[in-house]
Amino acid sequence: MAQLQNQNVMKKKNAYNVAVVGATGAVGTEMLQILEERKFPVNNLVPLASYRSAGGEVSFQDKDYAVNLLQKDSFADVDLALFSAGSEISKEYAPIAVEAGAVVVDNSAAWRMDPKVPLVVPEVNASALHGHKGIIANPNCSTIQMVVALYPLHEAVRIKRIVVTTFQSVSGTGKDAMDELAKQCQQLLSFGDPKPEVYPHHIAFNCLPHIDDFLPTGYTKEEMKMVHETRKIMGDASIQVTATTVRVPVFVSHSEAVNIETEKKMSMNEARAILSMAPGVQVYDDPGRGLYPLPKDVAGTDAVYVGRIREDESIPNGLNLWVVADNLRKGAALNAVQIAEELSR
Ligand code: A2P
Repeated sequence: MAQLQNQNVMKKKNAYNVAVVGATGAVGTEMLQILEERKFPVNNLVPLASYRSAGGEVSFQDKDYAVNLLQKDSFADVDLALFSAGSEISKEYAPIAVEAGAVVVDNSAAWRMDPKVPLVVPEVNASALHGHKGIIANPNCSTIQMVVALYPLHEAVRIKRIVVTTFQSVSGTGKDAMDELAKQCQQLLSFGDPKPEVYPHHIAFNCLPHIDDFLPTGYTKEEMKMVHETRKIMGDASIQVTATTVRVPVFVSHSEAVNIETEKKMSMNEARAILSMAPGVQVYDDPGRGLYPLPKDVAGTDAVYVGRIREDESIPNGLNLWVVADNLRKGAALNAVQIAEELSR
């Protein structure tokens, strides 16, 4: 891949020119907010989108910025380009941005499994950034929250096998899906018969065990992302992973029921102690008082919340966890901005 031979290092600067590709989308909007909240040093902001939003404005640090149409010459003088406009756009434009001298942090699936491209969750494998070739991939939202919770346990007792079921919110699909859920709820409550547009079936008052396309094996691409990305990020190709990914009628935050089998035994209390100290993790686990992480409470926050920690009594060395995170923040925009922060150090 000729475009990835050059190694753009983000030169230390007081402030960076930052392009956001997909600045008007569900994740792009969150990227702008998180850059602002975390005071990432931005000199010039370049918000980019399609013809649908070009000509509009986005607000950043009390200033309005014109949204420009994404074009081949959009990346002149850009130091850092955060991409979240889908895989096709990333495949075409990320190499163009790198060629123009930018470092790309890409939120799509386009580059994640390319061996030349680091796939990074800073709490787990920030060191993988060394020697990048200009593109850094942001993992799948469900994978990010799972590895933040599991990596500290893996370091302690080595995880052999992961069985995960996800409960993923509609914001993971984008703003059209959020609108569809809101509209279908209203229509169904007034005895209407809405036509599904974004999803193959009603998402309101329903659960769809179908995220991304089906493969001949019967798994979906989303499920296989969790398998391959988990191994790449945790740096252990021997971890066995099996996933069932489900779309649920929640606006923001993904939840996951995670079962792990470990090489050495770990008690519930040991797991709780390790996770209480783990970077990016918040243990919220007092089931006797009805306290466990809920997607509604976790939306808008930064941590990966873990509750329902308990031993799997069906095997000698196993644990069950309930893991919830804001998919737009830690699952996408926050993780991308954390990568940018690492690059600027
Ligand atoms: P636009 O607002 O012009 O449609 P979401 O994931 O919430 O659906 O958002 C997708 C983001 O990607 C939006 O900002 C959208 O811009 C942008 N986008 C989609 N297609 C393109 C394209 N062909 N070129 C540039 N940006 C695009």
